[in-house]
Amino acid sequence: MFGETILMSSAPTPTKRSSYFNPISFEADAAFLPVLGELPEGLQGTLYRTGPNPQFPLENAHLFFGDGMLHAFTLHEGRASYRNRWIRTNAWQAEHAAGRRLYNAAGRPINPEDPALPAEDNGTGNTHVIGHAGRLFALEEAHLPIEIDAATLRTLGSADFGGKLKGPFTAHPHVDPATGEMLFFGYGAGGYFTPDISFGTMNAAGEVTRFDRFIAPFSSMVHDFAITEHHMVFPVLPLTGSMERASSGRPPFAWEPELGARVGILPRNAPASDIRWFEGKACYIFHFMNAWEERDAQGHRLLKADVLQFEQPPLFPFADGRPTDTLRSMARLVRWTFDLDGTSNTFRQEPLDDLLGEFPRMDDRFTGRAHRHGWYACQREGATQPSYDGVAHHDTIQGRRAVYHVPQGDRLSEPVFVPRDADAPEGEGWVLAVAARMQEGRSDLLVLDAQDIASGPVATVQLSHRVPGGFHGSWIPGAALNLGDD
Ligand SMILES: [Fe+2]
Repeated sequence: MFGETILMSSAPTPTKRSSYFNPISFEADAAFLPVLGELPEGLQGTLYRTGPNPQFPLENAHLFFGDGMLHAFTLHEGRASYRNRWIRTNAWQAEHAAGRRLYNAAGRPINPEDPALPAEDNGTGNTHVIGHAGRLFALEEAHLPIEIDAATLRTLGSADFGGKLKGPFTAHPHVDPATGEMLFFGYGAGGYFTPDISFGTMNAAGEVTRFDRFIAPFSSMVHDFAITEHHMVFPVLPLTGSMERASSGRPPFAWEPELGARVGILPRNAPASDIRWFEGKACYIFHFMNAWEERDAQGHRLLKADVLQFEQPPLFPFADGRPTDTLRSMARLVRWTFDLDGTSNTFRQEPLDDLLGEFPRMDDRFTGRAHRHGWYACQREGATQPSYDGVAHHDTIQGRRAVYHVPQGDRLSEPVFVPRDADAPEGEGWVLAVAARMQEGRSDLLVLDAQDIASGPVATVQLSHRVPGGFHGSWIPGAALNLGDD
């Protein structure tokens, strides 16, 4: 997920990957998958997902490590088809040609003099796959986007947009639904563990129209950011990066809660120097559900953001190597409130639910605007380890509305919302998620009614193999796999 940046140390991994994340060793096409129930008529397009799937697996590799593998499901006129492909990154191609592992568990070349190594590492693409301006990109936050052919999943190579993009590019860019612009950022933009954050804008035609940067209060792992109609929101939280630690064999990324939480808010059209920093209680988030602006009774402009907030980060230790507390390293839905017209530089963190979850998604047509509906992967009550086997529907008016769980022992991916059609009211449509049937060693694509997830899937697309645990994906309406063309 984070390329080699987190892998520059041989510090022990705080959690071991479970069998859900075990990679598969093949690529496959399936032209006609069995469908239980009925695929909704309006659901025509392709779900693209990505996740880590090392070509040459290592037992002790970090969960975020590994070659990206794409899994795509095309749903079209009641038919479901599937293809999976590794992303042909430079590292993947070099290892494939050599027929052996070239990198160790820490992501470093086993032998830096090995002539089989690629000239340049261009990342893994294992974190998210998104569409913009008619193109498809696999993302991982330490490198440039990797362009993918949407019909074949063929890797087309790194995209620098005519030389306008340099350095790391987030796995979580966000598109303003009103303008079609994609806003993005990159942390460690001045080199590994620097506090430099780049950011920019790509217009609806896919041209980079701004590429700028600022210096954050400290170097932090910034996995996601948020946009509103007029602002960008950068969470600089105390999961810090340190070259000094990395080069002395200590954890390169570590939890330093004494630094507190900092959140930078920058008007979208202002110079980078206008960024305003707010402070809050130490916490970590990987993901925003959404952020938006509203006014309070005094007429103050408020910026609000719903996030899946951890008390302590999972998967990373304290600076001295001690692991964080597992029970405090699970996330809940929390609302952040910033008073943009107030004099205080603190922000409010207010829990919205006690359900443990991650991977929040919403109806992307409302990105940056007040939303009503959101969905996220959730855990069973009483879970003591992070393992998502449910999907929760949160209604900002009614609170938690419904939860659907797969049978105990099975696992469920991030839920991706698909509107019923382009003009459907907010939240009306379907939620797509991949369920791993752990006993059977295979997976199903579930199609749920977004407004009635508790009733379970309206359609289930059955695979004969397991899709390993992954991170994120996108639904591209109208896109279709072409299985006849390799
Ligand atoms: Fe993410």
